[in-house]
Amino acid sequence: MQPMELPAVQPTVLTGIQPSGVPTLGNYLGFFKPALSFQATHRAYYFIVDHHAITARQAPADLLANTREVAAWYLAAGLNPENPNNPATLFVQSHVRAHVELGWILNTFTQMGELERMTQYKDKSVQHAQNINVGLFGYPVLQAADILLYNATDVPVGDDQKQHVELCRDIALRFNHHYGTSTFHVPKHTIPPHGARVRDLQDPTKKMSKSRPGLGCVLLTDTPEEVEKKFKRAVTDSDTGPDAIRYAPEEKPGVANLLEIIAGCRDQTPQQAAVQLHGQQYGALKAEAAAAVNAMLQPLQAAQQGWLQNTQKLDDVLRRGAAQAEPVANATLARVKAAMGYLPPL
Ligand code: TYM
Repeated sequence: MQPMELPAVQPTVLTGIQPSGVPTLGNYLGFFKPALSFQATHRAYYFIVDHHAITARQAPADLLANTREVAAWYLAAGLNPENPNNPATLFVQSHVRAHVELGWILNTFTQMGELERMTQYKDKSVQHAQNINVGLFGYPVLQAADILLYNATDVPVGDDQKQHVELCRDIALRFNHHYGTSTFHVPKHTIPPHGARVRDLQDPTKKMSKSRPGLGCVLLTDTPEEVEKKFKRAVTDSDTGPDAIRYAPEEKPGVANLLEIIAGCRDQTPQQAAVQLHGQQYGALKAEAAAAVNAMLQPLQAAQQGWLQNTQKLDDVLRRGAAQAEPVANATLARVKAAMGYLPPL
């Protein structure tokens, strides 16, 4: 049997987020905003990774609500499924069954040692020491299946997901090489130049994360008062001179984080944000960061609420998204199985 080859690949973006709580400012600046900018140039697939979220226990009511809420954040942040020239596809991972099936197949092309080296697995094994399940271990394999099903050329992610996309490339190359085919397109990750790792406001050595809630973590649902309070308490350093506000990530991580946040909200570079605040005190820097975040969050929150109030319209977007995604994913899966010698359904 002649294996089916990969169709000509057009620039295609695919990326996703877990419905495991309220997204953070880090998710917005490092993920939603840069990822959605690809809609202008790429065939675009965005999705909500519910199968990944269950690797940590989720209360059923929360998983259900969070899935629609995350869909609403995507749409509020500018995902446009109605663009007549290039409609973006938004769907829920579990609505397209091919993800799990290809994930199983790719398990056999992934080595235990590779998964043991994944830093996210190591971190989460500490965080969820009571529940180090096989799904958590195999998480990056399912992620590889997600990416490869859509022949993605670009996978925009924050810094912490780089290793998973690199593993996906290794798996794709290994498969292609083993069968002597070009079944999979080998994707690359794209990391935004700034905002790829928004840091915790209380501990700028750590990334801002919904799994470490509190004063250091700004949530997309925070009120203006909460945002101001969190920035007012942000950790900086003890510099007081006229040069205290400058962009020096190694030497001044707390200050650099605030400058990156301002820059991310205003489409500037952190160096430009630093020039504008030069000579001022940290109080002014923190107030500026809070103002920049609030100016960005308020219209975003209003738009998200608008979508949540119209769940029929929201569900319709997700239904159409799954219908668009499914044939693309199924075609890849058929190509994979043909290359491997699976007997097609009779
Ligand atoms: P998740 O849900 O942990 O995070 C979603 C995206 O947000 C980015 N991010 C950040 N960026 C900058 N600063 C931060 N503080 C910050 N926190 C989170 C993450 O890097 C990520 O891009 N495994 C993925 C979901 C996934 C996926 C995929 C992504 C599943 N399949 C296929 C791309 C392609 C994850 O857990 O994301």
